[in-house]
Amino acid sequence: MATVHVSRHPLVQHKLTLLRRVVTEPKKFRELVRELSQLLLYEATLDLPLRPRMVDTPLAAYDGSEIAERIGLVPILRAGLGMVDPILDLIPTAHVWHLGLYRDHATLKPVTYYNKLPPVVDVDLCLVLDPMLATGGSAVAAIHVLKEWGASRIKFLGLIAAPEGVQALQNAYPDVPIHLAALDDHLNDVGYIVPGLGDAGDRLFGTG
Ligand code: PRP
Ligand code: URA
Repeated sequence: MATVHVSRHPLVQHKLTLLRRVVTEPKKFRELVRELSQLLLYEATLDLPLRPRMVDTPLAAYDGSEIAERIGLVPILRAGLGMVDPILDLIPTAHVWHLGLYRDHATLKPVTYYNKLPPVVDVDLCLVLDPMLATGGSAVAAIHVLKEWGASRIKFLGLIAAPEGVQALQNAYPDVPIHLAALDDHLNDVGYIVPGLGDAGDRLFGTG
């Protein structure tokens, strides 16, 4: 079964509380998504393999290390876009492959409208980025695309999940670890996470 990591870091819990507030305006919302993404990335990359790298300091040779894996970021449009730049700040060599998916409001099923993956897998680890894991339909569809493409190591990074979404993702892809800032109570009858934060894409881009 896929491991679910829910951050217990005080900074994450503090910032997530501000993010949820209905009065948090898009500028502040984007800033908080940026900070939370970096804090979650820090925890989600604890197991990244290193290889040796010798460098010269001004005084001596230093037997150092560098990240051994090529990393791909796969933001699910739109809301996943808010997580890309802060992660690129920390992993500037990452490749970014956009996947466009939206939930049909009537069926809650994901509809794919954009896929810019290259023909050949060129990364070792894919980080799927989406702040919200609700029914899990979008995340499962995105990971299905990545598996068909040939990706072997995948992690999901999100901010808030519903138990229903975690269950769906675990059932479909038990090998994909899930990293979250919070696991909320339930989905309401129109598929929104409760207490949640509302529509993440609308709040990021001011389109509510
Ligand atoms: C939101 C969110 C996820 C999806 C989660 O996107 O960013 O992609 O819903 O719901 P699910 O787990 O039930 O699939 P949305 O479909 O609203 O698209 P948007 O980001 O373009 O607004
Ligand atoms: N998508 C969102 O942006 N928010 C939810 O609560 C559920 C899906």
